[in-house]
Amino acid sequence: MSTTPKMKKITTRTFLKKKQKGDRIVVLTAYDYYTAQILEKSGVDALLVGDSLNMVVYGHNNTLSAEMDKMLFHTRAVADAAARSLVIADMPFMSYQSSTETAIVNAGKFLKESGAEAVKLEGGIEMAPTIKRLIELGIPVMGHIGLTPQSVHRFGGARVQGRTEVGRNYVIESAHALDEAGCFSCVLELMTAPLAEKITKAVKMATIGIGAGTHCDGQVLVINDIIGMYDQITPRFVRRYANVAAEIEKAAKQFSEDVRSGSYPSDEESFLE
Ligand code: KIV
Repeated sequence: MSTTPKMKKITTRTFLKKKQKGDRIVVLTAYDYYTAQILEKSGVDALLVGDSLNMVVYGHNNTLSAEMDKMLFHTRAVADAAARSLVIADMPFMSYQSSTETAIVNAGKFLKESGAEAVKLEGGIEMAPTIKRLIELGIPVMGHIGLTPQSVHRFGGARVQGRTEVGRNYVIESAHALDEAGCFSCVLELMTAPLAEKITKAVKMATIGIGAGTHCDGQVLVINDIIGMYDQITPRFVRRYANVAAEIEKAAKQFSEDVRSGSYPSDEESFLE
C-alpha cells in the first residue's frame, strides 16, 4: 500500500469552499515550466499565467502588446507542470473586448490548446454579459476589477481606486455584476482596503487582492516581484522574499572570474581521454 499522501487537485470549487471556510487562497503568477514546478511544490493554490509576463519576462513597459500566441505558449508550459494547482490564463488586451464571439473563440483556445482550467479577464459591469456567456459554455472565469492594467492609458497611471464616491460605486456595481454573472473568483487590484473588505463580504465569488488590503479571500503577487527578479516598478504592496537577481549576478561574476583565471574547467570537469 502506498504511503504517499493523496494529492488534492485544486478546482474552481475549492476557491468557493475556501472562502466559505475562511481559508485564505494563495495565488502566484508563473510563466514557465520549471518555475511552475517549484511553485507547485510550495503548495500554492493557483498559478496565474498573467499578461504581466509582457513586462517581467519580455521587458515591455505595459501589458498591452501581449499576444494570444505568447499567452497560449506560456500557459501550455505552466499547465504541463501543474498537477495540483489551478491554472488560470490571463486573456490579453483585445482578445475579448471587441465581441462576445471573439471572447468565446479565444477563451476556448486557452482551455482546448494550452491546458488552462479557467481564464481571467479585466473589466467591470460592461464585461458581465460576455463573462456570463463564457461561463454558460463551460469556461470558468476569474474577473479583475479596480486598477485594470490593460486600461493603463485611461487611468493615466497606477491610481488607487475607490477614493471617490463615483469610483467606489462603479467598483461595487461591477463586483456585483461579475458575481451574478457567475465568476468563481475576482482579482481586486489597487483599491482601498475598506472597499475590498466591503466587496469581499458582499459577494459569493472569492476575492483575490493585489494592493487591496488584508480582508480579501486570498492574495496574488507576481512571482518575479517577490523573488527580486524585476525592479523596474516596485509597488508599495509588493513584499520581497528573495533577491534572485543578485544571486544570478554573483554566479555569473564568479564564472567569468573562473574562466578568465583558467580555474574553470578543472580536470574533474574535463574529459582527459
Ligand atoms: O497579469 C498579471 O499578472 C495579473 C495579476 C498581477 C493579477 O493580472
